[in-house]
Amino acid sequence: MPESKIRVAVVFGGRSSEHAISCITAGSVMAAIDRDRYEVIPIGISPDGRWVLAPADQQLAVSDGRLPQVSGDGAALALPFDPSSGGLLVVPPGEVPQVLGAVDVVLPLLHGPYGEDGTIQGLLELAGVRYVGAGVLASAVGMDKAFMKIVWAAQGLPVGPYVIIGDRAWRNEDERKRKIVEIRELGLPVFVKPSRAGSSMGITRVTREEDLEAAIETARAHDPKVIVEAAVNGREIECGVLQGLDDGPAEASMPAEVVMAGAHDFYDFETKYLDGSSSLAIPPRLPDEVIAELRRMAVQAFDALDCEGLGRVDFFYTDDGRLVLNEINTMPGFTPTSAFPQMWAATALPYPDLVDRLLQTALNRPLGLR
Ligand SMILES: Nc1ncnc2c1ncn2[C@@H]1O[C@H](COP(=O)(O)OP(=O)(O)O)[C@@H](O)[C@H]1O
Ligand SMILES: [Mg+2]
Repeated sequence: MPESKIRVAVVFGGRSSEHAISCITAGSVMAAIDRDRYEVIPIGISPDGRWVLAPADQQLAVSDGRLPQVSGDGAALALPFDPSSGGLLVVPPGEVPQVLGAVDVVLPLLHGPYGEDGTIQGLLELAGVRYVGAGVLASAVGMDKAFMKIVWAAQGLPVGPYVIIGDRAWRNEDERKRKIVEIRELGLPVFVKPSRAGSSMGITRVTREEDLEAAIETARAHDPKVIVEAAVNGREIECGVLQGLDDGPAEASMPAEVVMAGAHDFYDFETKYLDGSSSLAIPPRLPDEVIAELRRMAVQAFDALDCEGLGRVDFFYTDDGRLVLNEINTMPGFTPTSAFPQMWAATALPYPDLVDRLLQTALNRPLGLR
């Protein structure tokens, strides 16, 4: 029996500012994987990018208000990108590398740059290893809020007005002035964001023009590419999407409304993870036909980027009754209390079955160009 187990490498942590969130997700996913069918290899990536074989008993939850983190000590791991080299290499300190063996599927539970953005997906493509979730292009486009909007708009999907500020434009005095003029046309308030980040890191809601430059610098601390968006007045509704089974079309979950209580202006990092001031309403209190339209549009948004595996599509439902796309997350938060698993649980797919479905879809997909 043990010999026929499917070997799953769960990769977590990583170099982005969402390191801790990824660890928390990995803790819950590994607890839900059926060990009678799967053998789990926990692979941590430290904040400075070292791959290590993580201890099986590592604490991957918030404890005493402290966020979990992968330590870069211990046996280093390497994934040789030569598909014939036979799988993962492990390098214990001071010893020669040993082949740890081939893995059947990788579950890259990484959020943000160097994980959710196509980089690790590229490594896995080169190594000829199957993995869960979006491929290189979809991951990269789904990470970059500017390109995501460009691709959606080109396919007729509704996105709000925005201005992109590249690094060179911001450093050049004339171009910077032109960008400020463009931003003025968006009106106030605006949301200033790093183009490639997540968990609301580096995002500021700006209500006065004199605060704009500081907000752009805050975003630039995360990403030299910044996007400034007109604020959309509306409720926030999220919808889970899964790749179809047996070559069928992608499927959308029952959506959820993010309900915020308390003093927060928007769905910021604290509201998301720390102070418990947000909750999910599943199903959202919306007319049935709006829910149906939103689910259709979530699948279109997923397909527009050639996504695979899973995605969470986030919308605004405006005060005047329109749906506007905000963003897609190709590796959404995935603890049992996160929106994505909650929405699927409300769509008759409990957490362990959801994890199993992701692994099965990844195992069934062909290697190479798809
Ligand atoms: N254009 C916008 N209009 C209104 N609220 C916004 C807008 N953009 C972002 N927000 C608020 O900021 C939050 C985080 O923005 P989002 O683009 O989803 O970034 P992240 O990838 O970090 O989650 C949203 O959930 C929403 O509360
Ligand atoms: Mg978001």
